[in-house]
Amino acid sequence: MIKTIDIQSGETAGLYQYLSAAVTPRPIAFVSTIDSEGNENLSPFSFFNVFSVNPPILVFSPVRRVRNNTSKHTLDNVHQVKECVISLVTEEIAQQVSLASCDFDKETNEFEKAGFTEIKSDLIIPSRIKESPINFECKVNEVITLGEEGGAGSLVLCEVLKMHIDESVLDENNAIDPFKLNIVSRLGANWYGKTNKDSLYEIAKPISRMGMGIDNLPEEIRKSVILTGNELAILASAENIPAKKEFTPIDKKNTEEKHILAKELLSQGKAEDAWQILL
Ligand SMILES: Cc1cc2nc3c(=O)[nH]c(=O)nc-3n(C[C@H](O)[C@H](O)[C@H](O)COP(=O)(O)O)c2cc1C
Repeated sequence: MIKTIDIQSGETAGLYQYLSAAVTPRPIAFVSTIDSEGNENLSPFSFFNVFSVNPPILVFSPVRRVRNNTSKHTLDNVHQVKECVISLVTEEIAQQVSLASCDFDKETNEFEKAGFTEIKSDLIIPSRIKESPINFECKVNEVITLGEEGGAGSLVLCEVLKMHIDESVLDENNAIDPFKLNIVSRLGANWYGKTNKDSLYEIAKPISRMGMGIDNLPEEIRKSVILTGNELAILASAENIPAKKEFTPIDKKNTEEKHILAKELLSQGKAEDAWQILL
């Protein structure tokens, strides 16, 4: 059974929960802004991502409060001073970030409330956050208002002017190492995701190579009742059907036995060995 929600016929009850719990995991922008009177603000936004590299554009979306249709201070601030620092949220600071999301009044400095250390930015007025390993100094190019009702988002288009990366999160090639970064993501309700050795895995997809595709797998493999779509996709990521190397006692096994063995090998990351069993 599939549950459908027909938004066009006005069925919006629970929509926030469904949207925010479905579109997951989301990265979190921890945004530092300042208003025209010099009041500083820090707030997290998980309606956030990178949308362009040249120019480098990050976008986050403060949503109008559903309960009273008021706007967030962050949004008011970027209208007044068109600059912000976007920092990324690691497990080490996730509780402090959550604390900073309380609806403090606009005179409250969330750096102090949530225990963060300010660092003066090089190019803009809002401060960066010492405790975050990645800070982007941005100018706000545009704010796109998506509606006037409670729940309406505003897309804040931020152009990165300068990026600061703590070298402790870099590997030996100066690339960001996800194991060292320890970033957290936002899911539905109060759920957060960790990014560590237990949750990370690789999907090898060399761009120099074109996978043959599941449609080109031999029918006996493609129609397997044992191998899943994921497992077929690993096999179909090979450019061609590999040549059989040597005949072994395994070749005497029946199709089902071969598929079970191939499945086991695929789970161990041994795609070439799996192919040899299946050929
Ligand atoms: C992890 C996290 C992510 C959040 N993401 C959003 C978001 O994407 N949009 C939004 O409007 N509010 C979001 N919130 C709630 C705001 O952070 C919260 O309303 C905050 O108080 C706004 O502060 P301000 O009024 O000082 O800007 C999030 C809260 C947390 C803890």
